[in-house]
Amino acid sequence: MRRRPATDFHTAGQADPAPAGPHATALRIRPYRPGDRAAVRRICFETGYMGSPPPYWPHEASFADVFAGYYTDREPESLFVAELRGRVVGYLTGCVDSRHATPVARAMLRAALRHGLPLRRGTAGFLARALADFLRTPDAARDPFRNPRWPSHLHINLLPEARGLGGGRALMEAWLARLRELGSPGCHLGTLFENHRAIGFFERMGFRRLGPPRPVPGLRAPDGSRHHEQILVRDLREAPQAPGEEGGGDP
Ligand SMILES: CC(C)(COP(=O)(O)OP(=O)(O)OC[C@H]1O[C@@H](n2cnc3c(N)ncnc32)[C@H](O)[C@@H]1OP(=O)(O)O)[C@@H](O)C(=O)NCCC(=O)NCCS
Repeated sequence: MRRRPATDFHTAGQADPAPAGPHATALRIRPYRPGDRAAVRRICFETGYMGSPPPYWPHEASFADVFAGYYTDREPESLFVAELRGRVVGYLTGCVDSRHATPVARAMLRAALRHGLPLRRGTAGFLARALADFLRTPDAARDPFRNPRWPSHLHINLLPEARGLGGGRALMEAWLARLRELGSPGCHLGTLFENHRAIGFFERMGFRRLGPPRPVPGLRAPDGSRHHEQILVRDLREAPQAPGEEGGGDP
């Protein structure tokens, strides 16, 4: 049976939490509150490598500074959380205008200095490899993606127990509704090309791949092979689709 679309029961401005569909009776989507900060940072770390903790970066505070800090501290109004039985189990961190976001490379440099990452056993190897890759891989994903057609961006992560319950769709629909209200023409995201499940989810949500995957400095799969970043985009100017058809397929 087809799942009821999240937009039936939730809008971005809604004050009360709302259940995320019949497959997720206990899962609720709501706007971020300051008291969620620790949970969001924890989930950012726990899911940081294709849904698992990042083995190459075993230091939660610095990882969360780099990948969650901008969203919790500078654009919290673009953050939505998923709650399961009263506990925050997932989030969507958004940015309406990506020109305002801190580029990852700059955030990494700050975190490296602040937390002494080059001197920590767990992170030193990754940083050295990232620097070497950065210098010798000309087609590496060096600069953040910037294109006025898709100025907004997002990250989305759910803990394992909250996946497959409709929460990803509900978070995404809350975010896309907010972007439409604000008049954003489009949204992009970057994910690992090797994260096939996530790419399948994003394509189901109406995103399409843009450009070739580019190697990510420093990142390696368990077998030693390189990881790549894939950019996906979603146009928001097209007429809204009929209920139940969200994400059916952009051109
Ligand atoms: C990726 C993620 C956010 C998806 O959220 P989710 O709650 O598991 O997904 P949902 O249950 O809401 O699924 C939404 C829709 O996508 C579809 N879908 C999910 N994964 C899919 C896949 N791999 N291929 C095709 N469709 C997929 C579902 O069937 C569902 O379709 P429907 O609503 O039309 O019936 C979540 O699984 C997650 O956090 N994974 C680990 C972290 C991660 O990889 N994050 C992305 C990194 S950028």
